[in-house]
Amino acid sequence: MDKIRIRGGRPLEGSIAVSGAKNAALPDLAAALLTDQPLVLRNVPQVRDVITMTRLLEHLGARTSVDREGMCHVQVSRMSEPEAPYDLVRTMRASVLVLGPLVARTGWARVSLPGGCAIGERPIDLHLDALSRMGADVELVHGYVTARSRRLRGADITFATRTVTGTENLMMAATLAEGRTVLRHCAMEPEIVDLAALLTAMGAHITGAGTETIQIEGVDSLHGATHGVIPDRVEAGTFLIAGAISRGRVEVTECDPGHLAALVDVLERCGVPLTTGPGRMEAGPWESLGAHDIVTSTYPGFATDLQAQYMALMTQASGAAVITENIFENRFMHAGELRRMGADITLEGRTAIVRGPTKLSGAPLMATDLRASASLILAALAADGESTINRVYHIDRGYERIEEKLRALGAEIERMH
Ligand code: EPU
Repeated sequence: MDKIRIRGGRPLEGSIAVSGAKNAALPDLAAALLTDQPLVLRNVPQVRDVITMTRLLEHLGARTSVDREGMCHVQVSRMSEPEAPYDLVRTMRASVLVLGPLVARTGWARVSLPGGCAIGERPIDLHLDALSRMGADVELVHGYVTARSRRLRGADITFATRTVTGTENLMMAATLAEGRTVLRHCAMEPEIVDLAALLTAMGAHITGAGTETIQIEGVDSLHGATHGVIPDRVEAGTFLIAGAISRGRVEVTECDPGHLAALVDVLERCGVPLTTGPGRMEAGPWESLGAHDIVTSTYPGFATDLQAQYMALMTQASGAAVITENIFENRFMHAGELRRMGADITLEGRTAIVRGPTKLSGAPLMATDLRASASLILAALAADGESTINRVYHIDRGYERIEEKLRALGAEIERMH
C-alpha cells in the first residue's frame, strides 16, 4: 500500500493551478445517464472517485474516455441493467447520484444502500423521501434500494436538512419528470450551480440553483452538451492553508476566489496576508498567527471539507481556537493523529479546542478519510523531521497529483510504493 513521506519545516513558495472540482465532476458525470447523446466534460480531475464513477457508468452501459488534459467523453446510448452494485457503492457514497437519473431515464433503478462511513452515519433518507414524493415506489430489500416509476411526477418538496447530493439527485430526476418540481431548503453549494449549468446546456429548464429554492420544469428528453467543470474550492483552500502553515508564499491559480469567501475571511482574521484577483489567490507569510473559532455549515458558511486542514493550521496559532463541526457527527478522526505529532487538542462532542502554538514533530501517521489525510499532510509540512502517512488511498480519492503539486512548491515529499 502506498505511503507518503514528508520532511517538514520548509516554507512553500510558488504558484500552483487547481484542478476541476471532484464534487462537481461526480454529479456532472452522473448526468450523462439522462441522455443517449454524448456529454463532453472539460477539467475533470483524475482522482480515484472520478474513476470509480466512470466505472459505475460503464457498468450501466456507458462508453467513456478521458485524455490527459481532463477532457472526458461519456455516452450512454444504451442502458444495461440499471443497477449500482455494492462493490462500487461501498467504496464511494456519491455513487448514490446515479439513482435519480436512472429512475428518470429507465423507470427503475436498483442501487446498493451506502453504509455509514468514517465521517459519520450519512443516511440517504432525504433522497428517497423526495423520490417517493415524485411518485416513485421506493423499497429497501437485501441492502439495495429499488425505485420504480413509469414516469416521475413534478412535486413540491422541502428537504428537512440541506443536502448537497440530495439536491443534485432530485434536480436530475426532475429534469425528465412530468410537470414542475419545486425543491425547497436546498443546498446552495457552487457544485449545484455547476450541475444546473450542465443540465441547462443539455436542454433542462431550471431556475434558482444556488439559492434555497430550485424550480425545474420537466422536459421529455435531454440532449448532449459540452461543459467545463468548476475549479475545486477545497483543493484551492488546502493549498492556501499549506502556504500559511509553512509560513511561505503560495499562489493558487485557475480558482474561483468567490467560492472561498468564508475561508478568506477567517484566514485574514488569523493574520494571514491574502491577496485575490480574477482566478487567483495568494497567501503570504504572516507576522503573527492568532487563533480564531470556526463553525462549519452549509455554503456559503465555512466548509466542513476544510475543517481538518484548518485544525492543522490552528496548532500553529497563538491562543485557543474552538472548532465546531456541525455537518458530520464524527469528523474529528485527524485530531488524534495531530495529537501524536504534539498538538494540544481537546474534543468535546462536536467541538474541538486547539491550543497553540505547539511545536509539531514528524511521526508515522494514519489517514482515515480524504480531508483528514490532507490535514496530516499539512501538519507534516510544518513539523520538525520526517512523517510517513499511511493509507494514502484516501487522499487519492480527491486530490490530483498532490505530492507532485506540493513538490513544485518546494515541499520535500515523496510517495513510496
Ligand atoms: N443527511 C441526512 N439524510 C440524507 C442526506 C443527508 O440526514 O438523506 C445529512 C448528512 O448525514 C449530513 C448532512 O445531511 O449530516 C449534510 O450531508 P450532505 O447530504 O450535504 O452530504 P453529501 O451530499 O453526502 C457532499 C460532499 C461531501 C461534503 C458534504 C457537505 C459530494 C460528492 N460530497 O456530501 O464531500 O462534505 O456534501 O458539504 O458532493 C469530501 O469531498 O471529502 C466530502 C465528504
